[in-house]
Amino acid sequence: MTFLTFFTNAQETTYTSDFTIAFGSCNRVDLPNPFWEGIASKDPDVFIWGGDVIYADTDNMKKMEAMYSKQKNNDAYKSFAAHTEILGTWDDHDYGINDGGAEYSKKQSSQKLFLDFLNVPKDSEIRNKEGVYMSKDYQLGDKLIKIIVLDTRYFRTELTDDRKSGKRYIPNENGEGTVLGAEQWLWLTEQLNQQSDYCIVMSSIQFLSAEHGFETWGNFPSEIERFENLVKNANAQRVVLLSGDRHISEFSRKIIEGVDYPLIDFTSSGLTHSYTSYSGEPNHYRVGDVISVPSYGLLTINLDNDVINFKIMGVNNQILGELSQDY
Ligand SMILES: [Fe+2]
Repeated sequence: MTFLTFFTNAQETTYTSDFTIAFGSCNRVDLPNPFWEGIASKDPDVFIWGGDVIYADTDNMKKMEAMYSKQKNNDAYKSFAAHTEILGTWDDHDYGINDGGAEYSKKQSSQKLFLDFLNVPKDSEIRNKEGVYMSKDYQLGDKLIKIIVLDTRYFRTELTDDRKSGKRYIPNENGEGTVLGAEQWLWLTEQLNQQSDYCIVMSSIQFLSAEHGFETWGNFPSEIERFENLVKNANAQRVVLLSGDRHISEFSRKIIEGVDYPLIDFTSSGLTHSYTSYSGEPNHYRVGDVISVPSYGLLTINLDNDVINFKIMGVNNQILGELSQDY
């Protein structure tokens, strides 16, 4: 049985802070990021980049490298990163091309620069494969938390462009195409077949919200089905999705038949800029309000009570939205 409580602009719920994850996406290096000190004050066990670490949008690798260097040498980020473990994935703009996928010609060079930015060791096996997907296990007492970071760019096949429908993209016909590609799917299946008590999956693009017509897993219906089937049959427990990309923040929640907890997709975007002209969009999985000012995401996993508290955090650590899920 699961319980769900939702708070917006509510008082902070206090839990024994057992494991804390902060994450964020959409970070223009030419704009101030007001969050590093606030995130540091929450003392997260890990920070996850959810994509668009920089807005490179180029096949000029020198230009891309200079932007990463600027981010890496940002004083506030530098001192944050010196004390916090950082994982992450890319989205389209740091990958190198707006809404880009498998076709991007510079993806191998871009991958190297991204992994350099994350300080992935030169001899790491992550560098010997294509794409930037990775995972990390955290053992806390008898509980295991697995963090999975997906690559939704390197292998992603074509989107179906349909601007005349009033939307930028529509779902591929017959569910064709792939977000993750064959090899990453095999890897993900293995990861979810491993036993874990919590499995946090970072996807740059949204998984559940699919009616807006921009990039989303919803443009690949067969990939949604495949992921949900995987979750249903997984040894990994309490799978939670994190996403970014949209320059808005929101919680989405879906009941999946055969899974004894709701699947939550917590979208947090952006860190330096947001969709200020946002005036509403449909998402029948949404719980609570859309936040369209800059924000970061915070998850506190209470391992004693099996509760995850999700917060959309604004400037000065103002809580802009909150969701608690009892697992
Ligand atoms: Fe972005």
